[in-house]
Formats: sequence, structure tokens, C-alpha cells
Amino acid sequence: MFSSRNLRLLFFAFHLVGFIMTVGAADVSADGKTDKYSYEDFEKPGACRACHLDIFRQWEQSMMSQAYTHHWDEVEYFKLAVAHGKADPDFETTHEGCNGCHTPMAYLSGDVPPPRPGESRADESVSCDICHTLTGFEGDIPFNFNWKIDPGSKKRGPRKADEAKNSPHHEMVFTDFVHTAEFCGTCHNEKDDFGMWVKSTHLEWKEGPYSKQGVICQDCHMTYSPGRSAMMGNEHPDVAQHLFHGAHDPGKVAGTIELRIHPDIREAEPGEPVKFTLALFNGKTGHKFPTGSVEDRIVWVHVEAKDAKGNVYHLPVDKKGFDGEDMTIAADVLAYQDMGPILGKSSFAGVQRDGVPVGDRIFRMPYLDPQGRMTIMQWNTKSFGPDYRIGPRETKLETYTFELPQDAEPGKMTVTATMYYALLVKPVAELLGAEEEAIPMVVNIHSTTIEVLD
Ligand code: HEC
Ligand code: HEC
Ligand code: HEC
Ligand code: HEC
Ligand code: HEC
Repeated sequence: MFSSRNLRLLFFAFHLVGFIMTVGAADVSADGKTDKYSYEDFEKPGACRACHLDIFRQWEQSMMSQAYTHHWDEVEYFKLAVAHGKADPDFETTHEGCNGCHTPMAYLSGDVPPPRPGESRADESVSCDICHTLTGFEGDIPFNFNWKIDPGSKKRGPRKADEAKNSPHHEMVFTDFVHTAEFCGTCHNEKDDFGMWVKSTHLEWKEGPYSKQGVICQDCHMTYSPGRSAMMGNEHPDVAQHLFHGAHDPGKVAGTIELRIHPDIREAEPGEPVKFTLALFNGKTGHKFPTGSVEDRIVWVHVEAKDAKGNVYHLPVDKKGFDGEDMTIAADVLAYQDMGPILGKSSFAGVQRDGVPVGDRIFRMPYLDPQGRMTIMQWNTKSFGPDYRIGPRETKLETYTFELPQDAEPGKMTVTATMYYALLVKPVAELLGAEEEAIPMVVNIHSTTIEVLD
């Protein structure tokens, strides 16, 4: 009945007592997880395809199946994380922890660092058999892959025995863990060696409004629909779709923030100041925007006025005066110097910090290296700049005081605010050969008008 069951594995259940690992700090072989298993202890996703075809196809298109192989991951892992360990003994083991979330099978097998993508089963990344053999997590806070795992013929899922058909391929074990945000938090919260929460999607969710209303990650990223999860399985009203769509899906990102802009006065003469107020409402994310790899991501708003003749004027944002605000307004300054020694560039001045028009507001939380310079290497983060991201259901207001230019054409002037999003700051993407990551997506756009008087 259990075609590929390996009884030996049933005895492999283990519990890690008081295990808390900070990435890079721990000795991998001492943490009790690596070398415990081998790739053979896990089934390939292809083994699930025959019966769970739709789920397989969804997973295959998501970032979960590419967490190790995707180009930018390969670049950051090998060019920076692994190289950092070679350049600086303090970071010798940093690259090992990456695998605990990006390719747990390689991590558990002690295949660290794994071969380059294309050469081993590390490519399976976050696979079916990882998520469906998780049994819980250690401690109170899910982070740094502190999940517990019990690979073998028991697949753990959301259905109770009387709900589902028996599977001819595996045993089925109900667990409420798969229907919690903490399940996701084991990989979606990350604390570095300096004790900084360099990834905190689950913690942001937890302190936000959605957790209080019982809306979990799965409600937005694994949405439910009537149907069957397995070809020969039962019909259910709420089959979990394995979409895992996030920042790589322009449709998911679109509309995340709603924009409305208005002027204080509708008519003005050249030379007169008009104050535009922009309201930015986060109606769509369950955590902050941006979240996750905040060190890489960049969200900015560009405001432009166009007069009746088509002349275009750029409106820089008004300063609010909070600490560290200069890091949230695009400027022509250099940053990311900490990559220099790792890339073998001894006198490296850095690259442009933002790569977006000077004066535009940037919604970010700067990650700062031990010398206080902005970094995209989250493991090298010793402190943060101001958290100027947009929280779930938060509305931020920005103002733009614009003195109408003397040459502005009398008649209708249209003022447009556009919010853009890129997965990676452009100058960094160019430096590291990951240009595709920097292609901006439009989050939203809104316009208002005023009358320029003679
Ligand atoms: C020969 C067919 C077959 C194969 C192959 C198969 N499954 Fe299943 N699986 C089923 C059926 C049937 C069900 C029950 C569906 C239902 O009625 O809800 C099921 C249910 C599940 C569930 C839900 C369990 C629960 O208690 O909620 C999970 C999780 C699961 N399978 C994972 C996997 C994984 C992972 C693989 C590959 C390693 C796999 N399956 C391979 C047939 C299969
Ligand atoms: C990142 C973790 C993750 C991965 C990878 C993953 N799953 Fe799931 N899967 C879940 C979670 C979480 C649920 C339950 C969601 C819920 O009920 O809220 C689930 C539910 C299921 C179910 C039961 C669906 C239902 O509603 O009855 C099946 C079957 C299943 N997964 C099979 C697979 C297969 C096959 C793959 C690989 C192609 C896979 N899963 C990959 C996390 C994962
Ligand atoms: C075993 C670790 C692990 C678990 C458990 C896990 N994830 Fe992930 N997830 C990852 C990794 C690693 C990535 C990054 C993929 C990449 O490299 O871009 C990711 C990426 C994502 C993305 C981003 C997709 C995009 O387009 O940017 C979403 C959304 C996501 N996960 C949702 C979830 C949800 C919801 C759950 C819980 C049901 C979950 N994850 C559980 C490891 C995990
Ligand atoms: C109310 C809906 C909602 C909930 C709840 C929610 N998300 Fe999201 N999530 C979104 C939307 C919309 C996006 C796309 C915009 C963005 O990138 O933030 C997103 C993006 C993401 C990303 C991509 C971030 C990046 O830059 O790669 C990840 C990862 C993610 N969510 C994980 C989670 C996890 C884990 C939870 C639960 C702790 C969760 N989400 C809860 C709506 C939600
Ligand atoms: C605690 C789990 C965890 C650890 C440890 C971890 N990551 Fe990630 N990583 C994720 C998740 C989850 C995402 C994706 C979603 C997001 O942006 O929130 C991600 C995203 C990324 C991305 C961006 C991928 C993209 O598609 O844009 C890169 C690059 C990356 N990680 C590299 C690393 C490196 C290198 C290390 C080790 C120094 C590391 N990660 C350690 C969980 C982890």
C-alpha cells in the first residue's frame, strides 16, 4: 500500500532541545541538524506530481521551487556570502545558515555549501517533502529555521482522517501546525549574529491588525478554493492553492498601496507655492511593505507636474525632520562599501545608494553595517536606520511644496504621483550582474490638477 515507504525513517524522529541558532554563529555540525539525514531520506517533488498535479504545477512556478537556483540567490550566495567567509574568519560559517531556509535538504544532509545550481538535489529548494514533514518548531518564536522535521512516509497536512481519502502513496497525519502563521515564520523571520531581526515578516504580521482578526499568511498566499487536492482524492470546499505569490508577481505587488494626491489651492500664479498632499494607504499586505528582504528592495514615489504645454517639473518631497530621514530621500551618495573587500576590490568607494531620482521619497528601513554604512548583506547588519515602511492598513501622508515656475504655461497643470517597486537597488544589481532584479514595477498611480493663472 505504501509504495515508497522507508520504514527506517520512522525511527528517525528527533527533538532538538532548546535549539536556537543564529545564522553564522553556530557550528553546523554541532547543532544537531546537519548530517542527520541525507537527500535519499526525502522524496522528490516529481514523486508527488502524479497525484497532486495542480499543486505541483503551482509550486513549480513559485519562488519556493527556486529558492536555491534563482539567479539572484546564486549571485548573493556565492559571490557574497560564501566569499565573505573566505575573506573574513568572523563570517566563516555564515553561508551555512542560508541553506537552512533556502535548501533545507542540503542543510540537513550536511551538503554545505552545495554545488552550484544545476548539479545536485539542492536545486529542489523548499520542496513538498520539506514542508509536509515538518512537525512543529522549537521555542516560542519561529525564526532561523527552528522547525522540527520527521521525514518519511507520513505526510503532514490540514485534513483529518475522516475528511480525506486514503492515499495509496503515503500515510496522512493531521497537524494544525500547517494552518498557522508560525509555520511560515520559521523561515520568514531571521535574526543575524549581531542580534538584529533582518527578516521579520511574521513578527510584523503578529503586531499588525491581521493577526488579531485571525487572518494568516495562508489566507493571502495559499488561498482556498473548492476542488480536489489529489486526483483520486475527496472534494473539499477549501483546497489550499500553492501559489506563494509575492514580490516577484507584479500583479500581487500592483495596488498594494493606494495613492490619492490633492493640492491646497486649485488656482495659483507662477511664483506662488502650492502644497500637494499625498495619502498612501496599505490596503493589501498583512505585514509591512516592503517586507522580507528589505535590504534588497526599494519602493519609491516620484511626483511630477506637467503644464498645459507639456513642460515637466519634478517635485521633491518635503522633509519631515525625523532622525535618519536623509536615508529615506533619494540622494546622490555612495553606499554598500562593505562588499568591496569581499569582491576583491581593496579600494572600493561603493556604488550609488538609491539609483532613483534625487528628492524622491523612499519607503525603506536601511540596514547598516558595523561601520554605519548601508548594506545589502543582511548578515552584516549591526543596526537599522529609521523604519519608514508602510505598515498593514497604515496611511502615511507626504507633502510636496511646489513653487510654480515662472515659465509654467497658464492653463491646466496635472500633478501625478507614481509609486515604483524594484526587487533590488539598481546600482547594486548592475555591480553584481543581476540587472533583471532592478526592473521597476508600478505599484500605483494617481493624479490631480490645478489651474496656472496668467
Ligand atoms: C498515488 C497518489 C499520491 C501520491 C504519489 C502522493 N499523494 Fe499525497 N495524497 C494523495 C491522496 C489521495 C490524498 C488525500 C486527498 C484528499 O482526499 O483530501 C493525499 C493527501 C496528501 C496530503 C494531505 C494530508 C493531510 O492529512 O491533510 C499531503 C500533505 C500530501 N498528500 C502530500 C504528498 C506529498 C508531499 C507527496 C510526494 C512526496 C504526495 N503527497 C504523493 C495521493 C497521493
Ligand atoms: C512552503 C511550504 C509548502 C510547500 C513547499 C508545499 N506545501 Fe503543501 N501545504 C502547505 C501548507 C501550509 C498547507 C495547508 C494550508 C492550510 O490548510 O492552511 C498545504 C496543504 C497541502 C495539501 C492539502 C491541501 C488541502 O487543502 O487539502 C496537499 C495535498 C499538499 N499541500 C501537497 C503538496 C505538494 C504535492 C507539494 C509540492 C508540489 C507541496 N504541498 C508543497 C505548505 C507547503
Ligand atoms: C523551509 C523554509 C520556508 C517555509 C516553511 C516557508 N517559506 Fe516562504 N520562502 C522561503 C524562501 C527561502 C523564500 C525565498 C525564495 C527566493 O529565494 O526568492 C520564500 C519565499 C516566499 C514568498 C515570496 C515569493 C515572491 O514572489 O517573492 C512568499 C509569498 C512566501 N515564501 C510565503 C510563504 C508562506 C505563506 C509560508 C507558510 C505557509 C511559507 N512561505 C513558508 C522559505 C520558506
Ligand atoms: C492580507 C494579505 C496578506 C497577509 C495576511 C500576508 N501577506 Fe504576504 N504579501 C501580501 C501582498 C499583497 C504582498 C505583495 C507586496 C509585497 O511584496 O509586500 C505580499 C508579499 C509577501 C512576501 C514577498 C516579500 C518580498 O519582498 O519578497 C512574502 C515573503 C510574504 N508576503 C510572506 C508572508 C508571510 C510569511 C505572512 C504571514 C506571516 C504573510 N505574508 C501575510 C499580502 C499578505
Ligand atoms: C531564516 C530563513 C532564512 C535564512 C537563514 C536566509 N534566508 Fe534568504 N530569504 C529567506 C526568505 C524567506 C526570503 C524571501 C522572501 C523575502 O524576501 O521575504 C529570502 C530571500 C533571499 C534573497 C532574495 C531573493 C529574491 O528572490 O529576491 C536572497 C538573495 C537571499 N535570501 C539570500 C540569502 C543568503 C545569502 C543567506 C545567508 C547569508 C540567507 N538568504 C539566509 C529566508 C532566509
